[in-house]
Amino acid sequence: MNLVIVGAQWGDEGKGKMVDYLAENADIVVRFSGGANAGHTIMVHGDTFVLHLIPSGIISPDKIVVLGNGMVIEPSAMFEELTSLSVKGIDWEKRVIISDRAHLVLPDYKNEDMRIDEHRARPVGTTGRGIGVAYGKKASRDGIRIADLWDPVIWDSLSEANRNWLAPYKEKIASMKVNLADFMMANQDKNILLEGAQGALLDLDHGTYPYVSSGSSVSAGAATGAALGPRRIHSCLGVFKAYQTRVGNGPFPSEMLGDEHEALGAQLQKLGHEYGATTGRPRRIGYLDLVALRYSGWINSLDGFILSHLNLYDGFEAVSVCTAYELDGNRIDYFPSCTAELERIKPVLQAFPGWDGAVGAARCWEDMPEGARKFVEFIEDYTGVPVCGFSVGPLRGETFMRNEVWTAS
Ligand code: IMP
Repeated sequence: MNLVIVGAQWGDEGKGKMVDYLAENADIVVRFSGGANAGHTIMVHGDTFVLHLIPSGIISPDKIVVLGNGMVIEPSAMFEELTSLSVKGIDWEKRVIISDRAHLVLPDYKNEDMRIDEHRARPVGTTGRGIGVAYGKKASRDGIRIADLWDPVIWDSLSEANRNWLAPYKEKIASMKVNLADFMMANQDKNILLEGAQGALLDLDHGTYPYVSSGSSVSAGAATGAALGPRRIHSCLGVFKAYQTRVGNGPFPSEMLGDEHEALGAQLQKLGHEYGATTGRPRRIGYLDLVALRYSGWINSLDGFILSHLNLYDGFEAVSVCTAYELDGNRIDYFPSCTAELERIKPVLQAFPGWDGAVGAARCWEDMPEGARKFVEFIEDYTGVPVCGFSVGPLRGETFMRNEVWTAS
């Protein structure tokens, strides 16, 4: 069975932790999009792992992990990450596979990425990892793929500096690369977890363009980015936080702005350690946006949500969510395509009473405080997507499911 897991907001929803958790029942974990712009944090065995390129399944000792063809890979960053895993006692040899159709990020892409963004009338706030440049070259057919490293004509066309930079990695990459279509065909009877990066609202097609990343972060990207046909995707899950965050620039309709809201935002930022795992930048904070979440449920064909960080609201008197937008004096309940409209929107908030008891202490649905359960049921009714799992703290054990997710829908 092939199960997709994506971010349902602007990234940083807690996907890495959930992939680590769900990997227990997977044989193979394939990351299908993005590059070293991602930062997936996993806290396990008393240690913290921050992964940028390597799929989060690597922490489980017996899993094969794959960097899919939908990714853009900087070899030096990948080997640095693998070395830091070795230092922490993770044996990754023979467990890390790379699609030979994945594109490379070369050293000069990073400076180019920053330079382009600095000169934009509307800077995106890139992480500066060369991601936009690599995907841009891929689309304009000027990119370099893993397989191309063994094509003498393409190799000779690279600058001497790039050849010298790549040469030390070639032998090791040769032992890791596969034709991913063949690999997936050979493993079609296995349980495969398809790990997204970023989030639906940062997707190149469906996100808040141009304030997006350059990969395909939605579940459809799992088909192209992991060499599967769409009918081979059996179930899709989306992770979302009980509030909303965004790193970098771009519209954020439910952002906590203005004195009273900002104080709450600052509190959540502190409680949730809301700083970028890749750049350390503080994340912008907003109310949970149900209009955007319903949109995300649709574009990802979600069979279920996994809700994270609800425990941060333990002890709060009230919890507000955005249930509609006000645009130029009119109430709307859809997620607009036009960036200028998204920037003019005011959120319509609905407050729910807080709850007695601690979501953070719950280990099953029945343990959850009644008020929290009502809050979750409202989200399910609004979005039409069941919440099938919860992350109620940073540790692997602070996770539970309401139903079996390794079942084709
Ligand atoms: P880029 O992909 O590094 O060019 O960044 C484009 C936009 O996506 C910027 O606003 C980044 O902050 C944001 N972004 C990229 N990757 C992530 C991520 O993994 N989590 C959250 N935001 C991200």
